[in-house]
Amino acid sequence: MLTANNIATELPISFKLTEEQQLIKETIREMAQAEFAPRAAEIDRDHRFPRENWDLLAASDLCGLPFPEQYGGAGLDHVSYAIAVEELASACATTSVMYSAHVSLCAQPIFILGTEEQKQRFLPPMCAGKKLGAFALSEPGSGSDAAAAKCMAIQKGDQFILNGSKNWITNGVEADYYLVIAQTDQNLKHKGLVALIVEKGAPGFTFGKLEDKLGIKGSSTCQINFEDTPVPVANMLGGLGDGFKVAMITLDGGRIGIAAQAVGIAQGAWDHAFKYSKERVAFNKTINNFQAIQFMLADIQTEIDAARLLVYHASVAQDSGEKFTKHAAHAKLFASEMAMRSTVKCVQIFGGYGYVTDYPAERYMRDAKITEIYEGTSEVQRLVIAQNVLKGL
Ligand code: CAA
Repeated sequence: MLTANNIATELPISFKLTEEQQLIKETIREMAQAEFAPRAAEIDRDHRFPRENWDLLAASDLCGLPFPEQYGGAGLDHVSYAIAVEELASACATTSVMYSAHVSLCAQPIFILGTEEQKQRFLPPMCAGKKLGAFALSEPGSGSDAAAAKCMAIQKGDQFILNGSKNWITNGVEADYYLVIAQTDQNLKHKGLVALIVEKGAPGFTFGKLEDKLGIKGSSTCQINFEDTPVPVANMLGGLGDGFKVAMITLDGGRIGIAAQAVGIAQGAWDHAFKYSKERVAFNKTINNFQAIQFMLADIQTEIDAARLLVYHASVAQDSGEKFTKHAAHAKLFASEMAMRSTVKCVQIFGGYGYVTDYPAERYMRDAKITEIYEGTSEVQRLVIAQNVLKGL
C-alpha cells in the first residue's frame, strides 16, 4: 500500500532551481522590470520595435544564452533560457518574442544542424547580438499545413534561386539572418523542402507591409518576398529535402520558448492584478478581502504554477537529449490557453480599469492571444500530442 512517505520518494525529478538558474531569474527580472516594463505601454501604443531593448540584451550577454562559449554563447541550459523568456515576457511580451524568435527559431537550428563552418560563421555575431535572427516557414496560403509551402528554391550550380513569399515573419524588417524553408520540387511535397539561411540585402529580397496586430505590437511582423534571389548552397542547413525536418526540429524548441512567454505574460498580469486588489476599495474594504477576487487570484496562480512546471519539464527533456516533441507541445498547449484564461480573469479583477489602457491588464490579455496561434496553433499542438501518443511515444 502507498504511504505518504513512499509517494514522496517516487517523485522522479526535483524542480528546485539551481543557484545559477535562480541567479539568472533574479538578474533578468531586475533588468526587465527596471528597463523594459516602463517602456512596454509606449512600445505597444506606438507599434515601435524596441531596438534599445535588444541592445541591452546584447550588452548583458543574453543573445546566445544556451549556446557554448566557443560560439560566443553563455553556455547555460534550456531551463535558464526558459526562465529568461518568462522574465522578459512578464515585463514586455514584445521583447520576449524578439528574443525567442532569434534564439529558438534561428540560432538554435544553426547550432543543432549546421556544419562547423556555418556555426563559426553565423553564431558568433548572433550570440553577440550584432545580428538578429528570424524564421520563415508560413506563407500566404499555408500555415498549419507547413508542407504545402510554394516558395521555390531551384538549384543552379552553387546557388539556389528563391522565388515566392513568406508570411508572419517575427523580427520582420529588423532581422539580419532569415532561416527560410522553401520547396525544390512540388511533386515531392514535404520531402522536397530545403532550409536556407538568407541574409538581409540579398538581391531581390524585399519586405511587405508591417502587420497591424492585436498584441505584441512592438514586434516587427511582415511578409518577405523573393524575386530571383540567389542563396549560396553553402547556406543550406541540413541536406536537400531536409527542410521539413529542420522546421519541425526548430519548432520543437521554439514551442517551449512560446510556452515560457505565455507563463511570463500570465505572471505579469497576475502581479498587477494582485497589487491592484490590495489597493482598490469597494464596499469599505480593499477588494482582496472578497472571496470572489481571492478565488480568481488562487485559480490563476495555480494554473501559472502548473504551466511553469510543464515548461521546466520540457526544458529538462530538451537538455537531456531525449526526444521532447510531445513535452514541448504539452507545455505550449497548456501554457498558452492558461495565459488566455488568466489574463481575461485579471482584466475582470480590474473591472472597468481593466478595459482601458491606463492599466496594463488589457495589454497582457491582447499579448496572450498570439501564444495560442504562432509556432503552431493549439489545434496543431493537440495533433502533435495525439500523433505521439498513437505512436506510443
Ligand atoms: N522532429 C523531427 N521530424 C519530424 C517531427 C519532429 N518534431 N515531426 C514530424 N517529423 C517528420 C516525420 O517523422 C515525417 O518524416 P518521414 O517523411 O521521414 O516519415 C515527416 O516529418 C512528416 O511528418 P508528418 O506526416 O507528421 O507531417 P504532417 O504534414 O502531418 O504535419 C504538423 C504535421 C504537426 C501539422 C506540422 O505540419 C506542423 O507542425 N504544422 C504547424 C507549423 C507551424 O507551427 N507553423 C508556425 C510557423 S513559425 C511562426 O509562427 C512565425 C514566427 O515567426 C514566430
